[in-house]
Amino acid sequence: MKIAVLGTGYVGLSTGVCLSQIGHYVTCIDINEQKINQLRQGISPIYEPGLEDLLASNMAAGRLHFTTTLADALGEADIIVVAVGTPQGEDGAADLSYLVQAAKDISSSLTPESVIVIKSTVPVGTNDFIKTLIEDLSGFPVKMVSNPEFLRQGSAIEDTMKADRIIIGSEDAESAEKIKDMYRPLNVPMILTSTRSAEMIKYASNAFLATKISYINEIANLCEAVGADVTDVAKGMGKDQRIGEAFLNAGIGYGGSCFPKDVKALLHTAGVNGVKFPLLKETIAINEYQRELLVTKALKRFGGLKGRKIAMLGLAFKPETDDMREAPSIPIARTLTKYGAEVVAYDPVATENARKIIGDTIKYAGSIDEAVYEADAVLIVTEWKEVKNIDVAAMLENMKEPIIFDGRNCFTEESIRGCRAIEYYPIGKPAIII
Ligand SMILES: NC(=O)c1ccc[n+]([C@@H]2O[C@H](COP(=O)([O-])OP(=O)(O)OC[C@H]3O[C@@H](n4cnc5c(N)ncnc54)[C@H](O)[C@@H]3O)[C@@H](O)[C@H]2O)c1
Repeated sequence: MKIAVLGTGYVGLSTGVCLSQIGHYVTCIDINEQKINQLRQGISPIYEPGLEDLLASNMAAGRLHFTTTLADALGEADIIVVAVGTPQGEDGAADLSYLVQAAKDISSSLTPESVIVIKSTVPVGTNDFIKTLIEDLSGFPVKMVSNPEFLRQGSAIEDTMKADRIIIGSEDAESAEKIKDMYRPLNVPMILTSTRSAEMIKYASNAFLATKISYINEIANLCEAVGADVTDVAKGMGKDQRIGEAFLNAGIGYGGSCFPKDVKALLHTAGVNGVKFPLLKETIAINEYQRELLVTKALKRFGGLKGRKIAMLGLAFKPETDDMREAPSIPIARTLTKYGAEVVAYDPVATENARKIIGDTIKYAGSIDEAVYEADAVLIVTEWKEVKNIDVAAMLENMKEPIIFDGRNCFTEESIRGCRAIEYYPIGKPAIII
């Protein structure tokens, strides 16, 4: 099939590359010329494991192209996949301006045979609204399918090639069948629903996972108060198949480009439809509190942070990505500097993106050793493998004081107890002070 993909972000690029990998002819389109120029040279503008290899092999096979000119790709496309951003608007609702612009762009080069697939995360009713908009502009009936995406950054390729499920929402059976055909080589379970149910499945899934994270974080806070260990508690809970083991890692809260905005957008949808949904309000409130927890603990330990040198290990919102959107490191860095701390941060891949958001109010180190040198305390913010594999005892030798606030429970009790002198403050379990 000939497929056009609008938007070469984490979702559009991963989707385009994987669709070409399973034999389709894919043209990816973006309004960002710099991205397209990089991609044409086989360079991925985002860090995503395995992506560049597939990019190179499918470009070499002549199945994957990049352009900024929509008309080049749309005229011949059997399917047009829309994966532009839907960031958070000021009132918490999803900002649909990129999607509306994309719809306007599409309508001038579209043919009536093409099926338009909305992969971007959009509030219930958006597919209907976009369909009407394109039909008004193009002057003919269009075929639309809602196909929300569930990939995780950091494992986007694997998640696409081995998805748990593919949701296909449409009122038009023929179009739904065409999208099933597009995905058939993946051999993944496909669920056909109405358009509105498909839109809701995406939000309901993300809000549920975010709530699971806030739930275990609140359990962690309670564990600290009563002397239990949240890692053991989560293990014991997760073995119950009704609960499941995923998303039970206590820490400093969720971040990233999806959970924060999607939970708020669902709450907004509930509000405008007269449904209160207090559970989501609590999910958000717990997360806000949790993001500041390491600073709260450091303040309690030191009494004040003025002049203290604090090393932050990890900046990205999670490991294996350079994405800084809604990363807990942002409020942590800002609050630490507000209290007068001198902050030095290290991240294996997200430093340049972090600098654009946090700026030069903190310093950026080129290595863990450089970041922790003479530090009064280390804050573990992202659980990169490099961080988890630290020789803790050796790291402490470089620090002024052997104090670690671990926001991701990265270290084993054994490795901590092996240190000569240490103050170790994990999440949801007793501190270890030697
Ligand atoms: N990132 C994730 O992990 C993830 C997972 C599932 C779903 N989603 C959803 O998928 C959508 C895309 O997310 P993302 O993280 O890939 O976004 P992104 O911001 O990384 O990328 C969006 C891309 O769209 C391009 N774009 C904007 N307007 C355009 C237009 N008119 N024509 C062509 N290109 C245009 C931008 O230049 C950008 O490169 C969002 O709705 C998001 O909520 C994201």
